Amino acid sequence: MVIVKHTYIADLKHKVGEEVTLHGWVYNKRSSGKIWFLILRDGTGSTQCVVVGGQVPDEVFDLDGVLTQESSVSVTGVVKEEKRAVGGYELEVSDIRVHQIAQNYPISKKDHGTAFLMDNRHLWIRSKRQNAVLKVRAEIIRACRDFLDSNGFVNLDTPIFTANACEGTTTLFETDYFGQKAFLAQSGQLYNEANIMSFGKVYCFGPTFRAEKSKTRRHLTEFWMLEPEMAYCDLDENMEWAEGLICHIVDWALHRCKEQLDSLERDTSQLRKVKKPFARVSYTDAVEILQNSGEGFEWGGDFGGGHETIISDHFDGPVIVHRFPAAIKAFYMKRDPEDERLALGMDFLAPEGYGEMIGGGEREADYDTLLRNLKQHKLSEDAFQWYLDLRKYGTVPHSGFGLGLERTVAWICGLSHLRETIPFPRMIYRLEP
Ligand code: 4AD
Ligand code: MG
Repeated sequence: MVIVKHTYIADLKHKVGEEVTLHGWVYNKRSSGKIWFLILRDGTGSTQCVVVGGQVPDEVFDLDGVLTQESSVSVTGVVKEEKRAVGGYELEVSDIRVHQIAQNYPISKKDHGTAFLMDNRHLWIRSKRQNAVLKVRAEIIRACRDFLDSNGFVNLDTPIFTANACEGTTTLFETDYFGQKAFLAQSGQLYNEANIMSFGKVYCFGPTFRAEKSKTRRHLTEFWMLEPEMAYCDLDENMEWAEGLICHIVDWALHRCKEQLDSLERDTSQLRKVKKPFARVSYTDAVEILQNSGEGFEWGGDFGGGHETIISDHFDGPVIVHRFPAAIKAFYMKRDPEDERLALGMDFLAPEGYGEMIGGGEREADYDTLLRNLKQHKLSEDAFQWYLDLRKYGTVPHSGFGLGLERTVAWICGLSHLRETIPFPRMIYRLEP
């Protein structure tokens, strides 16, 4: 069912010759004597509205001197095709109804510093650039859901208040839960692992929280993660799911976000090269690549952003790194049966220096091994009793991964910082607006 309440600028191409009323905000204005132009934006696009003296009541014509940037107005007129105008159409105005005259809108066309724009994020999101980025975000969410829904995954939401740590205890946000200690979820994975024993293939998609104390362009304290989890799935199949998801997202964005990517001046030639199969490299071989490139990197360390760039540049495209040292990975990862020092983890690294988009792996399915890992990581056995249970009642090989939404949006849009990829970013020094 289609509910049409009023005409949007994006619909003008179907309305040529008709009289319509658009509802929006004043983006810009210019005048030349007996005629003035109002550029209206309504969230779906921008269009030029032409106001001609003598063709509208005087009080409408006189609005030229009254309307300011971001004033809210409804504009009525006949739609005309006009190749030279923004969007390719324009409105021959017969009436303008003013809802409110905006006073001293703080964001002008001149360059503002990032701190100022972040303080005014509630207004900055109205800009053409922010509108484009956030539309791409919405489309990437659609692409993710489309891929998993059409591949038989069941979407089940996981809790945000949790009693245990999934991704280590150093980045936990603690809160009081009626006198009990609770943590904001770092990941929905552990609950997904319970859900797959009922549904086979599931995913959760929601906000996750990490008390990241470092200020980097790749970390938010609140970010959205898409987490698929599959029963009877090993590391190799897990990598294929990750690869399929990434290709679907890239294709979707190239087809459905052309206008936005153009307006962001994103060079999409590298995105077009993202095709299956992706290169795969073991952690150990990746360390060799780093060492051969002159980086003094030692086996056993964790890759930083700079290391990831060297590795993905080496492959000139997307790459999946697998089999990391168990010591730097989470307690739940399965050990490599061929080499006890390794965990069956995998990270997907995006090209062009964007680094880790996906982290995941095969999970430890054996009760005794999992218990030993919990103890090694000094995690409370009590809080994980239910998780251990899953290994007692029909345990199976299983795998999954988490895709960071904001990092994916930054990569697809070609942005250098995550702060623009979510409407209201949360970072160490940013809780408002
Ligand atoms: O590699 P991570 O920590 O993996 C997990 O949380 C697993 N439990 C997921 C799973 O297997 N179900 O995080 C997964 C992804 C990263 O690759 C990155 O894209 C993103 O989440 N991410 C962040 N994005 C923004 N800000 C942060 N602070 C992030 N931390 C992780
Ligand atoms: Mg990771």
